[in-house]
Formats: sequence, C-alpha cells, structure tokens
Amino acid sequence: HLTSLSGAMIGKGGHRHFMAKEIFEQPQVIGDTLNAMFNPAERTITLPDLPFDLGAVPRITMIACGTASLAGLVGKYWIERFAGVAVDWDLASEFRYRAPVMAEGGLAVFISQSGETADTLAALRYCKQQGQHCLAIVNAPESSIAREADAVLPTLAGPEIGVASTKAFTTQLVVLACLAIALGRARGTMDRETEARLSGTLTEVPSRAAEVLNHDGRIKALAEETITPARDVLYLGRGTSYPLALEGALKLKEISYIHAEGYAAGEMKHGPIALIDDSVPVVVIAPSDDLFDKTASNVQEVVARGGKAVVFSDAAGVARLKDLALEAIALPAVDPFVAPILYAIPVQLLAYHTAVDKGTDVDQPRNLAKAVTVE
Ligand code: G6P
Repeated sequence: HLTSLSGAMIGKGGHRHFMAKEIFEQPQVIGDTLNAMFNPAERTITLPDLPFDLGAVPRITMIACGTASLAGLVGKYWIERFAGVAVDWDLASEFRYRAPVMAEGGLAVFISQSGETADTLAALRYCKQQGQHCLAIVNAPESSIAREADAVLPTLAGPEIGVASTKAFTTQLVVLACLAIALGRARGTMDRETEARLSGTLTEVPSRAAEVLNHDGRIKALAEETITPARDVLYLGRGTSYPLALEGALKLKEISYIHAEGYAAGEMKHGPIALIDDSVPVVVIAPSDDLFDKTASNVQEVVARGGKAVVFSDAAGVARLKDLALEAIALPAVDPFVAPILYAIPVQLLAYHTAVDKGTDVDQPRNLAKAVTVE
C-alpha cells in the first residue's frame, strides 16, 4: 500500500505516528549505542576518555527529569550492584532548590534527551560549584548540558520527535549499563569474566527487542480491551522493574490521559491495594529474576481482591502466572541484567495503542513539551 502514503507519513517511515516509528527503531539504535562502547574481540566495554578517574569517585549522584530520571533510577540499581558505590538519585527540579550535600570529587551524572532541560542544567551548574565531576548522558551532542559537562556519553538514538520519550530512554539504559560495567572494572568489583558475560548479554538486546516488537498485535488488542476502558491503571514492579513500572504509568498518563500510578510491588500493601477492584487493571512487570516469587505473590493479592492482572514476563514466569492473570505475555527470556531495556518496549506499546484507540494527539499530547527549557 505504498502508493497511499502521504508525504508526512514517509517522514514517519510508514508509521502513523513518530512515536510508533521511534518504538520500532529501538533494535537499531540500541545496537548503535552499544557498538560505540563494546569491543567484540575481548567482550569488554570502553567508555570515551574521561577527564577524571572513575575508580576514585567516592559517591555518585544521578540527576534528571521525567523519563530520563527513570533511566537514572535503573542506573542506580545497576551501579550499586555491580560497582559497589553509593548512588544518590534526584529529580533535578527538587535537587536544584535544596541544599544537597555532596562528597568532594564525587561524580554527578545528568541524563537528558534534549540536553536543554532547564532544571537539569541548573542542577549541573550547582554540582560544578560543589566540586563534582559532571558527566552528561545526552542525545543532543550540541546541547547546553553536553557543552557544560566535563564529559559526554552520547545516546545514539537519532532525532526523537514524539514528545513522549521512547528510544531515548532505552538508549540511556544502554549507556548506563555500560557505565555500571566500566565503574565495576575501574573499582575492581567486577572481574573479566563477569564483564564478558554482562556485555555479551547486552549484545543480545537488539535481536531480543525485535522479538518483543512481534507482540505488537497482541499488545494492541490488550490495550483496546483492557486499558482503554479503564479510569485508573496501576503498574507494579520490584528491583529494576520498579522504575519500569513508574515509566509505564508515566507513558500511559502522558499520551492517553488515563490516570496511572507506578508502585514498587512491595509497597502495594501500604496504600494502593485499597484501590483494587475489578475496574482497575494492574500491569505487572515481572521478568524471571531473584525477586520473581515476591512479585508473584503480589499478583495473587491483586487477583484475590478482584483485580485484573496483566503480566509481562518470560515463558517461565507466564507458566507460573497465566492461570491467575487476565493476560500474561511471554517476552524472550534474558539475563535479568538487561531485562529493564527489553521490558520498556511492551509498556511503550501498551500506552501507544491505548492512546491511538482513545484518539488523542499521540505525538503532541496536550499541555506537554518535548523539551522544558523554561520553568
Ligand atoms: C519532557 C518530555 C519528556 C522527557 C522530559 C525530560 O517532559 O516530554 O519525554 O522525559 O522532558 O527531558 P530531557 O530532554 O531532559 O530528557
């Protein structure tokens, strides 16, 4: 049906929206971003030269806004686990107006698609005054944040037009995964064998991501049947799936205007369980990892209260939960290290198809801007 494509559609690569195009570009741009840092012969990660010693930083602070901040939260979990260094995580809009106390010679990491977000830039300037080494993970290499930082780790996502961030997020995760490995090596907490194994799992992500995109049709049906009619949607996850639950809820609110909340699954009993009834879909991000059993018991609690659980897991997890859940979708089984990169995709697709079904302006949702350069 190529002849029916309008000029505008060609810019979208045949997709109806830039957001869809950008979701489907992820196998490619994840691979591009990783290839800039991965050495296939030794299975090691090499970051660009940095003007400070990664092995000597006493403490790390992750600072960003919006979706980029949620990539930073995954980065915190990874770096603490694999590099054994304390990581603080902050929203730039809060950080800049507090009086944050920082360790001299610490590393501050700023994550931004546009590189122009006013709060993130203000936080960077504060950190420079506090004697921090400032590292920017940005998609726009000519941006203010890239210029003012001491060093830049680029995401090679290419231009992102849809206001709701998708491919910038997953490429930010790739860079943060590489940073965690490089920090682990520099600090002596990661041996060669582990580095080879973890970087090897990263190289599998592009093809696994392409497999995830094959679930598009099923996720569209799920969006239309279960999410569109809902007034409220809850997203749950543990460990590195917790930031993914936050991201899933953020995506859904941004573009479909359905109220959604992301929660750490273990916090459900401290509040959100009171919301659950048969009108509230609960989207559960549950890869088979060492926290799976705990998340599975949260699914049981949801179902026992009449909640409709929608589970994203792998074949092993789906086998355990399919009788409980309204719907359980099996994504490819991967090392838990890279699961957050992969599980970003189904939550993006779920939000996208819900928004399309509701007829909202997917690429330019109301009240939102692509880059928030003023307060
Ligand atoms: C806006 C965009 C979001 C983005 C956030 C941070 O709110 O709509 O998609 O995550 O800004 O932007 P940045 O360019 O700093 O990543």
